[in-house]
Amino acid sequence: MSKKNTYEINFNRPTIVGKELYYISQAIHEGYSAGDAAFTKKCHAYLEQALNVPRVLLTTSCTHALEMTALLLEIQPGDEVIVPSFTFVSTVNAFVLRGAKPVCIDVRPDTLNLDETKLEQLITERTRAIVPVHYAGVGCEIDTIGAIAAKYNIPLVEDNAHGLFGKYKGRFLGTFGAFATQSFHETKNFICGEGGALLINDPAFIERAEIIREKGTNRSRFFRGQVRQVYLG
Ligand SMILES: Cc1ncc(COP(=O)(O)O)c(C=O)c1O
Repeated sequence: MSKKNTYEINFNRPTIVGKELYYISQAIHEGYSAGDAAFTKKCHAYLEQALNVPRVLLTTSCTHALEMTALLLEIQPGDEVIVPSFTFVSTVNAFVLRGAKPVCIDVRPDTLNLDETKLEQLITERTRAIVPVHYAGVGCEIDTIGAIAAKYNIPLVEDNAHGLFGKYKGRFLGTFGAFATQSFHETKNFICGEGGALLINDPAFIERAEIIREKGTNRSRFFRGQVRQVYLG
């Protein structure tokens, strides 16, 4: 092909709104460059309110948020976790790291999301989680997937790395499972360099999630003034 007929399509182009450096310098000047100060609190509050989710915790990546779900669900060696056959490695690795066996489910040719018609036949007595990925922000058939998960009492972890503010039948992606995970990696729709979030839709997990995120300590409760000392949770 001649040079004049070639053109490049960027894999991604990070969204820059213009105030990034101003906000970064503000955080540094206030002495809180490690996070969990005013900007983190604003993000938590904004996402909780905008998505109507009981608790959102920013993480260092979507990978980290997925790894937290594996800890929260107490995934053990030999457990089975159903994951789409087409996804990013972190969807699977988070559970394999805890010793789980990934059970890959075929994806649909039209959406590249897991094929909900093949889900039920893959469930066994060892299935501990189902991890639908809303690929490219296109919602999975979450009604059907959720009904099967509920029938067998298996938690759903929505890997919503691509789908913040995407909707399925009018409802935000990430609000269906016990958990959902978001990515703010530079290649995603909303970016911060590297970053992510854990959406906790089942309030029963909130306290442990805060402890795990604070490396096993009750630091979150300490900063809210609920306890007088920091100790291992
Ligand atoms: C479906 C999916 N899940 C998880 C991740 C991991 O996201 P992060 O880079 O924020 O860890 C990605 C990254 O591309 C992804 O595409």
